[in-house]
Amino acid sequence: MSNKQDLISEKNIKMETDDSHALRVENLSKIYDTSAGRVVALDKVSFTIKKGEFVSVVGPSGSGKSTILNLVGALDRPTSGKISIDGINMFSMNDSEIATMRNKRIGFIFQSFNLINRTTVLKNVKLPGLISGMSHDVAEFRAMKILEALGIDDKKDQKPINLSGGQQQRVAIARSLINNPSIILADEPTGNLDTKTGDDVFTMLKNLSHKFQRTVIMVTHNPELAESSDRSILLRDGRIEKDVYN
Ligand SMILES: Nc1ncnc2c1ncn2[C@@H]1O[C@H](COP(=O)(O)OP(=O)(O)OP(=O)(O)O)[C@@H](O)[C@H]1O
Ligand SMILES: [Mg+2]
Repeated sequence: MSNKQDLISEKNIKMETDDSHALRVENLSKIYDTSAGRVVALDKVSFTIKKGEFVSVVGPSGSGKSTILNLVGALDRPTSGKISIDGINMFSMNDSEIATMRNKRIGFIFQSFNLINRTTVLKNVKLPGLISGMSHDVAEFRAMKILEALGIDDKKDQKPINLSGGQQQRVAIARSLINNPSIILADEPTGNLDTKTGDDVFTMLKNLSHKFQRTVIMVTHNPELAESSDRSILLRDGRIEKDVYN
């Protein structure tokens, strides 16, 4: 993106940002039409999340947890409803604007890491930076700083496949941070890890939220981790059943 376009979009962002909420979800519904019939994955869900909050999303399998994350991360479009991030209405934009927004403001962490195994750790972390227009030097500098902060800079030249699960998840966290996102979305980030490693990854996400004022939304099946977050949203059948501060 050119500098001029950057400035224009930043100006729009400032104009529209009259909101201390990092995320505002209003009447969000997602309905899948399948050969087996209609599936209401989300049914008019509304909530807001403040900047820097560390929120867990819990609920039985099929309750809509991943659907919420995928919509907030603009990986998918809702059937109806509105999502605003930093005061910007996501789905009022065209696909390429949404892609830019996603790349710059949202970091994703998945249960299965989703790293590119044929390239190095360093290149994995740099890639979203390069896509968003960073120079190689800047992307490399930032990637190394983040890898250092997460204690895995010594693995920079390894392929992710050769690392332990916990190390791979740290690389995924590093990658999610390269563009300095305001929201980090983590879908069962500890689901493939043993308890100790999962706790370490959880602590890392908590630190990101509390020390660096990142908004973190984490789906988890682990009740202890959920209770250690700031706030837990319990979903059932596509609706919010409970929303409590811990
Ligand atoms: N692409 C899709 N097509 C059709 N139905 C879908 C699709 N994705 C999700 N669903 C349905 O939407 C509902 C919510 O799914 P979702 O993946 O959000 O659940 P979840 O809470 O993340 O479950 P889990 O804990 O198993 O990951 C489920 O009934 C699921 O079968
Ligand atoms: Mg899921």
